[in-house]
Amino acid sequence: MTEWGVRLAGIGSAYPAGVLTNHDLEKMMDTSHDWIVQRTGIHRRHVIDGETESEFTLARDALTRALDAADMKASDLDLIIHASVTSEMTCPSNACRIAAALGAGTAAAFDLVAACSGFVYAMNLADSLIRVGRHRAVGVIGCDALSTVSDFTERTVSILFGDGGGAAVFTRDDDPGRGCLHQELGADGTNWETLYMPRRDADVPAWDKENSIRLGCLRMNGREVFKFAVNRFRQVIEDALEATGLGVDDVAQFVCHQSNERIIESAIQKLGLPRDRVHVNINEYGNTSAGSVGLVLDELWQAGKITPGDIIVCVAFGGGLTWASNVWRV
Ligand code: COA
Repeated sequence: MTEWGVRLAGIGSAYPAGVLTNHDLEKMMDTSHDWIVQRTGIHRRHVIDGETESEFTLARDALTRALDAADMKASDLDLIIHASVTSEMTCPSNACRIAAALGAGTAAAFDLVAACSGFVYAMNLADSLIRVGRHRAVGVIGCDALSTVSDFTERTVSILFGDGGGAAVFTRDDDPGRGCLHQELGADGTNWETLYMPRRDADVPAWDKENSIRLGCLRMNGREVFKFAVNRFRQVIEDALEATGLGVDDVAQFVCHQSNERIIESAIQKLGLPRDRVHVNINEYGNTSAGSVGLVLDELWQAGKITPGDIIVCVAFGGGLTWASNVWRV
């Protein structure tokens, strides 16, 4: 069987115009700008207005821009994967609605739920499906509007998150050395309760039973998630480099999920990553969950810091608990 390569044909992103600063949050809850900056690196986040903007419009606009960058039309796609935990409806998927809105005809379309790991999960899946010849052109979107599931009366979770997303278009390439050189998808469901979004009282785990919570909103055991993220982040990068025989210096950019600046800083120090090859934008957007890796990728692409032929390493982790990584030749 022929093995195909995978070309990153275009990238785009979208985030809302509206901004919620730490000083705005100070008026809504018992917190401070300095506490948030010291513990997370976040200064502000963009949030949808809930009227003209929604998770759907952000995801649609991100894919539209990625298609424009690729000089392609939606009808050229044969698959759309939309990674998110905040699609307005579970049926239909936002992927189907985006396909209809952009005119993707009968391209296959589905939503993928892997929380903050969603974009990298979808990238890896797209690579595999193109590589074996199942699909020729795949639109991948990672997007979330976590402001819609944040309880802004509660200070331990809501300060972290923002709304936004990124998209990429991947197409079949004759060179099998292009695209994913290595990939990993992982999950540890035994720790699901450290980051969860309850719909019913019955969903609430023992550790959170005594707390006053709002159904439909994100809940998190911050310290446990922090430990998981720091360890897993380091481990997947070490594994990826070992599996490919590459060194840190061979990598043009480490494209990392933006969960907390301290988590990224810990990886930089433990692995000796060059600071100029780990892009950080959490100060501006907060943690946009499935949106973050695509947003970083788009900023790097626009800035000319990733060009064809470069090797990049993408890393993400999040609720589930899930994680995903890849080593990718652009
Ligand atoms: N403003 C001010 N004080 C706050 C606060 C806020 N927004 N949130 C919590 N605090 C207080 C706590 O009540 C606690 O007070 P106490 O010592 O009197 O009990 C104190 O600050 C320390 O709380 P703690 O939870 O230990 O802080 P932390 O250093 O662990 O930082 C997080 C909290 C959430 C920033 C951190 O745990 C984290 O980033 N975790 C990972 C989150 C993440 O990445 N999630 C997404 C994964 S994809």
